[in-house]
Amino acid sequence: MKKYKVIESILKDRENFAPIGEAVDVFSPANIALCKYWGKRDQELNLPVTSSLSVSLGKKGTTTTLKTSVDRDVGRLNGAAIDFSSSFGKRLADFLNLFRTRDARYFNIDIKTNIPIAAGLASSASGFASLIHALNQLFCWKLSAKELSILARLGSGSASRSIAHGFFEWHRGERDDGFDSFAEKIPHVWPELCVGLLIVSEKEKTTSSREAMQRTVSTSSLYRAWPEKVLNDISRLRDAICEKDFEKLGQTAESNAMTMHATMLAAWPPVSYAVPETVLAMNTIWKLREEGLSLYFTQDAGPNLKLLFLEKELDAVRERFPTLDVVRPFGE
Ligand code: PMV
Repeated sequence: MKKYKVIESILKDRENFAPIGEAVDVFSPANIALCKYWGKRDQELNLPVTSSLSVSLGKKGTTTTLKTSVDRDVGRLNGAAIDFSSSFGKRLADFLNLFRTRDARYFNIDIKTNIPIAAGLASSASGFASLIHALNQLFCWKLSAKELSILARLGSGSASRSIAHGFFEWHRGERDDGFDSFAEKIPHVWPELCVGLLIVSEKEKTTSSREAMQRTVSTSSLYRAWPEKVLNDISRLRDAICEKDFEKLGQTAESNAMTMHATMLAAWPPVSYAVPETVLAMNTIWKLREEGLSLYFTQDAGPNLKLLFLEKELDAVRERFPTLDVVRPFGE
């Protein structure tokens, strides 16, 4: 398995480290992509066809508490026991398998999220990022940010961008082993930036992002145009962040999300994550924009929207969307 080669190479000087005796406890933020990752060039290593760019979601994310366990894996997700034969449990155990040692054959893991799971709100990104941070602390590996990003990617592609707060660009990379495919922090802050989580449905998605991506890459005639769109959008987003040009940021992010969903609609069988409320909300946002409000959105592999606006528009946005959960990615 290619994954084991990556782990071996990163942990080669560290693999004999024994786990510390007590539990470690780590929080990692969720992130939303302003320019999306959609399509893999390597399924096993989660290597992307294109680069992507995200902002981490402040206090929204996952806290993982980890210690070793004596004779079997034990886990809890938001208080409920994890069934290691469920698809979630298997995915978790598969990831943990990569890191088991003689002194740490089994783990006891307690995962707490403050975002809906699998509703397109990047719960797996913060989950795998916090897990790799927790393993790093448990085994005292002292991994660099780049190494943490590479290992988090093995759990879920977007997790590579969730290793810390701030803006991140995940470089596509060229190598087959993925050692140049990691997320790098963009050293700018934007304290006035707000992200509003508009939950229209908390139901679990029916098509996983993995399956939807693969179907899009292999059957959508629109996918051919995607890499060029991404190149353009990443460069516009970098400029927008540097210049604090909110219109440029919002417009680029929304257009990027719409284009990603268009590639999915053209797949066969088609993939659509929108429910009627998603489309209603989009129409409301477009109308408000026509009326002069500087408000944009992005959408991932789920029906919910993430609204993008600046602090000064908060009251106006809340008036239209009273249930909005507002996150300040660079706030206190
Ligand atoms: O990392 P995954 O496999 O959950 O895929 C994430 C895909 C999107 O959320 C739709 C886009 C992105 O870049 O986060």
